[in-house]
Amino acid sequence: MNASLAPDERAEMVLKEMTLDEKIRLLHGMGMPGWPREVQNPQPELGNGGAGFVLGVPRLGIPMIQMSDAAYGVRSSAENGRYSTAMPASVGAAASWDTEAACVYGTVIGKELRAQGFNMTLGGGVNLTREPRNGRTFEYLGEDPVLAGTLVGNLMKCEQAQHVIGDIKHYALNDQESGRNEVDAIISKRAARESDLLAFEIGVGIAQPGAVMCSYNAVNGDFGCENKYLLTEVLKKDWGFKGFVISDWGGTHSTVKASAAGLDNEEPLDEFFGAKLKAAVEGGKVSTAELDEHVRRVLRAEFASGIIDFPTQKGVVDVVGDLEAARKVEEQSAVLLKNANALLPLDRAAVKSIAVIGPHANEGMMSGSGSAQVDAPGRPSAGWMAQVWFPPSPLSALQKKFPSASVQFDAGANPASAAELAKKSDVAIVFAYQWMSEGMDLADLSLPVKQDEIISAVAAANPKTIVVLETGTAVTMPWLDKVGAVLEAWYAGSQGAYAVANILTGDANPSAKLPMTFPKSEADLPHPQLVKPGPGQTGDDAVMRTGEAKPTFSVKYDEGLKVGYKWYDAEKKAVLFPFGYGLSYTTFAYSGLKVAAGRETTVSFTVRNTGGRDGAEIAEVYAALPEAAGEPPKRLVGWSKVWLKAGESKEVSASVPAKYLSVFDESADGWKLTPGTYTFRVGGSSGDLPLTQTAELK
Ligand code: BGC
Repeated sequence: MNASLAPDERAEMVLKEMTLDEKIRLLHGMGMPGWPREVQNPQPELGNGGAGFVLGVPRLGIPMIQMSDAAYGVRSSAENGRYSTAMPASVGAAASWDTEAACVYGTVIGKELRAQGFNMTLGGGVNLTREPRNGRTFEYLGEDPVLAGTLVGNLMKCEQAQHVIGDIKHYALNDQESGRNEVDAIISKRAARESDLLAFEIGVGIAQPGAVMCSYNAVNGDFGCENKYLLTEVLKKDWGFKGFVISDWGGTHSTVKASAAGLDNEEPLDEFFGAKLKAAVEGGKVSTAELDEHVRRVLRAEFASGIIDFPTQKGVVDVVGDLEAARKVEEQSAVLLKNANALLPLDRAAVKSIAVIGPHANEGMMSGSGSAQVDAPGRPSAGWMAQVWFPPSPLSALQKKFPSASVQFDAGANPASAAELAKKSDVAIVFAYQWMSEGMDLADLSLPVKQDEIISAVAAANPKTIVVLETGTAVTMPWLDKVGAVLEAWYAGSQGAYAVANILTGDANPSAKLPMTFPKSEADLPHPQLVKPGPGQTGDDAVMRTGEAKPTFSVKYDEGLKVGYKWYDAEKKAVLFPFGYGLSYTTFAYSGLKVAAGRETTVSFTVRNTGGRDGAEIAEVYAALPEAAGEPPKRLVGWSKVWLKAGESKEVSASVPAKYLSVFDESADGWKLTPGTYTFRVGGSSGDLPLTQTAELK
């Protein structure tokens, strides 16, 4: 209990005192309510109503680990009679490009976890958007490894600072839900290291999380949770990860192989890391040194995160403070995609009538489902994979903003009647959604339930039509030319309606930029057809229960390095909206690019607010590598979010670590800088980079 000693030392002292049974106890879970299998949770009363728990060692002061899913807020609060704030979906946090907003995001979740009696989060999803139809895209942070890794790192660093064991997941290449338990992701080492794995590398480096969750899928033949290359060679050795590897729920498939590969903790039960692990240790198939290494990692994470020095104490969640934080993050996360003739912000003095249209615009704002689901206040749990709408409704938020205007609602069930209302209103606002969940992928990127038809009809009746999108990924917009404005609000969280109303009226000036490309159509994706398991290959049950699992089909990531904008750039495909794109109610100009090459390359330039409002600009820095590097045309290497008063200008600089300019050399098994001419390009979107400067790097 001497807190002045290093976590490693303290872990070692405890380890020395432990019996074999006590050690085994730390390496597996004790069940999850409702977990579908024969052997049920042996001591459910000891759980805290979360996704799982690990027994402690009371005689040595080692507490239980109580885990909860917490992607955008603490899960399962309704069943437990508690309250959780829903932050905007992680993809929205990524759209803020804001490390401070990410920190606030993590802090809110960390505090609410502890107030509810949890001391470990299962948040921190950072799988790259390689496949935008992936049903969990809303839980992740977009398509660029530097952006996604930096934000998940800051988010988890701040979450863990609240004394919960942090987690980053699902390691790795769990980039689609279709057949996730048995798909084998095939990819070259170089492509993996420079894309999906780079996001994890950066995130793990910044957050130093207590845990990394290995994924269900296989990678190049071996399941994520028994993949020695991923778990030991890359994560633990190369990146120096000091925490423990926890399996995704039911993602463990063996004892000896998984232990040797570097899995430290099986969840949610003890099929492989309970009695079987004990027998393997006693039979000499798993060495004591290997066993001790697993235990040491769990103990170290407990000391390092502070769950031992700061035991959880249940309390009342700071509802008001956290709602305020959720609103501010959403105001920085909603991306203004179109604003013809400065239709927005709406002038409160001039607008006398508003048509609010959309299937649920009188109910609330959409949220993402699956294990990420946060329960909406005032309602019971909606159950697995149900659509949940968070109050307040955008209709009521707009009625509050426009107390003297006529704000009327039409669900859009009949496009003609919606168009009628739009026609007699000054402006029409359509709230359109696309629901996503863990456990499924989207069939396509179109809005469901005939919303394209509704939007087209409304826009034909009133060109002052504003579309607010509540989606977890990219969408196609066949009506784009006909509408006046488009705001991508993502899944906007507990205060989404107020944040959107603030943006629509200019009380908040949008600054977010897309963390993923919006393609024109699915035909332009690297894999126009989603790769799905064949007949008889969807046996989740077989995989999760028996452990005799093998990947049954594969997805070949032959686009390799070309994820997201790197693909569209290299293939010269025009897109609907490029990565990094987003408008503001003011305008910005760039000048004076200077590049100082060195161990870290510093890129500096001036950004001026040339419009009439205060605002923030996300200034993006890309690099084109020398031809010999064999890379896609450009990659994001840094950015700076600059807050500028109307007319103000600032010199900003971004420092670019050598790794961000390097390529992964498979033969040397390391990162290498290709000597030659590097072109740095700076601007407000990957599609609009007015400043260019070259530099020679050796
Ligand atoms: C999900 C994880 C989640 C776990 C526990 C799994 O199905 O893939 O993200 O943390 O369940 O709920």
